[in-house]
Formats: sequence, C-alpha cells, structure tokens
Amino acid sequence: MEELKSIQWFPGHMTKTKRQIESQLKLVDAVAVLLDARVPYSSCNPDLRSVINNKPRLVVMNKCDMADPVETKKWLSVFKQNNINAIALDCKSGKGLNAFIPTVKSVLSDRIKAWESKGMTGRTIKVMVVGIPNVGKSSFINRMSKQNRAKVEDRPGVTRGNQWFTIGKGFDLLDTPGVLWPKFDDKSVGEKLAFIGSVKDDVLDTEHLAGRLLEYLRDNYPEPLCARYKLTKDDIQNIEGYEILEKVGRKRGMLISGGEINTERAAITVLDEFRNATLGKLTLDKAEEHQNVRI
Ligand code: G4P
Repeated sequence: MEELKSIQWFPGHMTKTKRQIESQLKLVDAVAVLLDARVPYSSCNPDLRSVINNKPRLVVMNKCDMADPVETKKWLSVFKQNNINAIALDCKSGKGLNAFIPTVKSVLSDRIKAWESKGMTGRTIKVMVVGIPNVGKSSFINRMSKQNRAKVEDRPGVTRGNQWFTIGKGFDLLDTPGVLWPKFDDKSVGEKLAFIGSVKDDVLDTEHLAGRLLEYLRDNYPEPLCARYKLTKDDIQNIEGYEILEKVGRKRGMLISGGEINTERAAITVLDEFRNATLGKLTLDKAEEHQNVRI
C-alpha cells in the first residue's frame, strides 16, 4: 500500500523507546508482550526480541473476543511449538485474565525455586507490559489492577514517573516506558494494522483501504462477508475491492444524487463493521503462515 510507506513512525521515537525499555528491563523479572489476537504477527514489533534479549517472556493475545476462535487456538499451539508461553484473553469481559499470574509463575518457575532456596520467599514478581499502541495495554493493566491503578511507591533506582501497578499480593506490573511503534517494513503488516484501526484513518485513503479489506475477506472469510452484505460468492469473484465496495454500497442503498453510489460512506461502514466485529470474529494473520514465530 503506497500511502503507508510514508508513515515511518518517526524512527527517533523508536530509538528512544528502545533505550527506555532496555534501561528498565533490569527492574523486572519478565516481559509480557501484548498482541492483538486478530493480528498476532502484525501487532508484534519485530525489534522487540532484540530489545528484551534474554528476559523471560510470555505472550498475551488480547481482544480474543473479536478474533476467530479457531485461529486463536491455532496460534496458541504455534506459540507452544516454539516454546513460547502464550495465553488468550479479552479485557472487555475479563475472560482469560485469571491465567495471567499462574502463567508468569510458570515462566519464572526456576527462578522462583532459586529465590525460595535462598530464603527469598514472597519476593515481589515484577513484569513489564509491552505492546504497540491500541493493543489494550491500559485496559489490561486496569483490569489486572481491578480498576485501582494502585501505584506502587517509588523504588530506589526507579525514575519518577514510571508506571508501576500492583495487581496482587507480591505482583507488580510496569507499563511500557515510551511508545513502542509498530513497524511497517512489510506492506501487508501496515495494511492489517490499518484494517484494525491502529493507523489513523485521516492519513489513509478510506475507500482504497476498505477495498483491500474486502478483497482480503473475499479470499479468507467469504461466508461472513456475503452474509453481512447479502452478496453471493459469485457476486464478488474476480473483481477488484473497489467494485465489491460499490456492491456493498448499492445493497445498503447508499446513493448520492444522480443515483451514484456513495463509496465513501460504504467504506466507512465496512471498516467500522470489521473493527467492531459486526462482520464476525475474524483473524487476519493466519497461524499456519507463521509456524516459526519468535518473540
Ligand atoms: P493501549 O493502552 O495499548 O493503547 O490500548 P487501550 O487499553 O487504550 O485499548 C485500545 C482500545 O481497545 C480501547 O477502545 C479499548 O477499550 C479496546 N480494548 C482493549 N482490550 C480489548 C478487548 O479485549 N476487547 C475489545 N473488544 N476491545 C478492547 P477505544 O475505542 O479506544 O476506547 P473505549 O471504547 O474503551 O472508550
């Protein structure tokens, strides 16, 4: 997508964030990488692995209420195959949140045993939460800290303004220092982040974007697409996304003077209905295409 190439998300910011994360890493025992369950690959900043280095980590696939449950299951097994602890949850209902603390404890089980053997029982476990904007970090921290946003007192060596939250007895979360921008080197990554609404629409051509989304849905999720807009599979075969968009607009009676189709309105409708899952629980990154995922 041409227009996404220009969005480079200010590399300066990323350098600063990297430094901020690196300097805070020594204060935590593990890193929780938040991903959007609809795009578990595209919502993962590819530089993150080198930043978090050897720190124990786990994956939290958030927003699974909007993702295809079959795909979420596949992603969980792909992570498992690659020895990455992963859980799926949603901060909207709170489903799956209970698994977080036990999973962190299992990731850190050797360390916890070592602490206990040194008599350090009940040592506070500290976890840094990282993720690109809009993935649900604040929602997750809010939910985990039961809306209290209880700030932990300043610790020695911890710069003021750090976002620490207590989520249970002996368990603290640290919000991502800085903003971890997504990376758009891969054209399809930028496009998928735009589909889910992580890129501001005002910098994008909405009709082009909706057209591309319709092509993707035609190729991957034809049933929910056809059901929602009362189209048949034949209606949408071998045509461009823009033409599918016109058909959607026509079906929805979105016309402007002279009987022309209001494709802009149709585009906004399609994007909204995808983003709020009215179109169904859909996943854009397929697990089978990322068998060797690394975090
Ligand atoms: P961030 O800190 O990583 O930037 O993300 P944040 O928590 O602000 O969440 C971004 C948006 O995603 C919010 O919606 C939030 O409500 C929504 N969200 C977070 N987790 C989930 C989830 O598990 N499921 C669903 N369906 N949505 C989730 P918003 O429209 O920006 O705000 P609002 O609707 O909460 O007012």
